Amino acid sequence: MATDSSTPQTLLILGASGDLAARLLLPGLGVLLASGVGGGLALVGSARESWDDDRWRKRVADSFAAAGAAGPEVDAVAGTSRYVRADASDEEDLRRLLGAVEQPLIVYFALPPRVTMAACRALAGVGLPSRTRLVLEKPFGTDSGSAAALNDLLTRLVPEDQVFRVDHYLGMSTVLNIVGLRFANRILEPVLDGRHVETVDIVFDETLGLEGRAGYYDTAGALVDMIQSHSLQVLALLAMEAPSTLEARDLRDAIAQVLRATRIWQDDPISFSRRARYSAGEIDGRRLPAYVDEEGVDPGRGTETLAEVVLAVDTWRWAGVPFRLRAGKAVSALRKEAVITFKQPPWVPTGLTGYQRPDRLRIGFDPDWLRLDVNVNGPGDPSVIDPITLDATLGSGDVPPYGQVLARVLDGDPTLSVRGDTAVECWRIVEPVLAAWRNDEVPLESYPAGSTGPDAGRPLL
Ligand code: BG6
Repeated sequence: MATDSSTPQTLLILGASGDLAARLLLPGLGVLLASGVGGGLALVGSARESWDDDRWRKRVADSFAAAGAAGPEVDAVAGTSRYVRADASDEEDLRRLLGAVEQPLIVYFALPPRVTMAACRALAGVGLPSRTRLVLEKPFGTDSGSAAALNDLLTRLVPEDQVFRVDHYLGMSTVLNIVGLRFANRILEPVLDGRHVETVDIVFDETLGLEGRAGYYDTAGALVDMIQSHSLQVLALLAMEAPSTLEARDLRDAIAQVLRATRIWQDDPISFSRRARYSAGEIDGRRLPAYVDEEGVDPGRGTETLAEVVLAVDTWRWAGVPFRLRAGKAVSALRKEAVITFKQPPWVPTGLTGYQRPDRLRIGFDPDWLRLDVNVNGPGDPSVIDPITLDATLGSGDVPPYGQVLARVLDGDPTLSVRGDTAVECWRIVEPVLAAWRNDEVPLESYPAGSTGPDAGRPLL
């Protein structure tokens, strides 16, 4: 049920006083408004805190300003925004809240998964106007069973195409650019398969540590926070078959199909997963305490800040190619990229010497770039192989990922959101690893903040 984004709508944020709203959601909205999308939007914030309109408007204005968003539409939304105190898991509060807002309505759950589930249960008792759209943050549920139960609950509230499971990586233009890179030319796609590719690495290393997010992160950890969501979406775009269109149904079918074929390498989560946690260290001259000494962390939980898994994609195209996914916090350098490493050529003509490293296609996310490391025999001595790099910088788009995701929500277009079956599938893929870790079958390693990670950054396999 698409609605033109210029139709006046109400965006109701539950969990409005939280970190997510301030750091990502409101800045994304601000830039979107400044770009001319979302005119006439009514913004309502709600949380359990006893804030008033003024305090909330300041939060909105500060977040818009931090993103550099300015203009009449930005000021209008910030200046007319309202705050309604409510406990999102309480039916009475929700009934009152829904009675206080205009329709059509978009409800954004900027809440931890358990509270989101409780809020959905309460909403089922209250009932929602039929055109309402629901926007949910990751992690969607806490395992495949709870994700499936949440899907069932949501379909009792609104139809699936009015449910938006947000993964802001799907809003990154470079991530979507993977589709064009693979399917808008005849050069790359023919060699992206198990005959030519040795390995695929998807790496998201950050220099940031916990950043005061223990309340959420300490119960999630790197595997759930990054790999179960963002990295698997990137894997899906890299490994899927060509969709016929970029419409929601085609793109999401292609993503679902490849994720259904994805599992832990050799079904062995003990050998093909790794977990580690940062100890005290220094990054860019900044001292970072050990993760366990960060405020709000329970060391007994054994939460990992770096996770690595090796996955297999059981399709004709990808059989035998390991996909290594790694995500780590507080490592030495920011590195967000997919690296496709090619096999050696079947034969290099005798007389050409000096093969040193494989050909690689590297796709950098945020900043966005593309590099092709390729072996040739120039410049210099024509009998010696010289690797060269073809380099391109891609635009990252004017609107940040959260803005792009929100633009689709305002338009009623679910293309960039995760479909219900896919959300369950992503849990199914990582669950054997979570179980092995729970049973302590994989040691929790340690790495100093600011280092390249455990085992000097050497990948598994
Ligand atoms: C979020 C995670 O979804 O993605 C964070 O919760 C992580 O822990 C962030 O830092 C990374 O996103 P980006 O856009 O900075 O790559």
